[in-house]
Amino acid sequence: MPEQMETCLRVEGLGAGYGSLQVLWDFDLEIGAQESVVVLGPNGAGKSTLLRTLMGLLPARTGSISYFGRRIEGMRTSQRVRAGIAYMSEVGIFPELSVEENLLMGGYSLPRGRVRRRIEELCELFPEVARTRRGPAWKLSGGQRKMVGVAKALVAEPKLLVLDEPSAGLSPVYVNSVVEALARTMGQTGPALLVVEQNMKFLALAQRVYVIEGGRRRFRGTVDELQADDSLRRAYFGLQGA
Ligand SMILES: Nc1ncnc2c1ncn2[C@@H]1O[C@H](COP(=O)(O)OP(=O)(O)O)[C@@H](O)[C@H]1O
Ligand SMILES: [Mg+2]
Repeated sequence: MPEQMETCLRVEGLGAGYGSLQVLWDFDLEIGAQESVVVLGPNGAGKSTLLRTLMGLLPARTGSISYFGRRIEGMRTSQRVRAGIAYMSEVGIFPELSVEENLLMGGYSLPRGRVRRRIEELCELFPEVARTRRGPAWKLSGGQRKMVGVAKALVAEPKLLVLDEPSAGLSPVYVNSVVEALARTMGQTGPALLVVEQNMKFLALAQRVYVIEGGRRRFRGTVDELQADDSLRRAYFGLQGA
């Protein structure tokens, strides 16, 4: 993280799990207020568990979570959302609602007028969302769902946008359009971004990368530094040789 940048999120020694299964071990993470960070890791590495713990959907067993200097690990999820952390889960949206209703849900804690204005802005930013706005969400393709999920998370003008594998279930073409939409959004509205992914294409958005394996941090650095590490490059870029 650049030295002079304000810290949005600082996670130290975080541990979490389910019953007798400890998944996340002593995890440290830092995100600057205008930073985009991607956490890479294979299936089952603990990426979703990390995000659930950050959101308070799962209790932290050890460690601390500070958000703009304030300790939040004891706060309820709703308080964290009100404080400006927006989260798109693996599921993303409510299929039984319309697209418009999904967007309205994203701004449930804000005044209606402001939410309406915000939805208009987001429809300009995400043409896919504008096109499908009046229809039911269950009719959307996988890629459209992700776009609506991201737009829904952005309605509340978060300070930190947290996305759980936006590429999951998408065709490569759609992965590109989600990455492009996010790049545009980050440029314009600029919240901090935390994406957990298996898909390398999201590294295009990353100022810094973490690698999580077996619930532990294996790497932290820039994309260039990741590529300079032979074993990580082989594991994550599938390149052979030195
Ligand atoms: N609700 C749950 N109950 C019990 N174990 C779970 C639960 N969710 C995830 N796990 C386990 O925790 C580990 C990490 O899962 P997860 O955080 O979903 O990984 P990732 O998102 O990186 O694929 C896996 O071994 C998974 O089986
Ligand atoms: Mg997951």
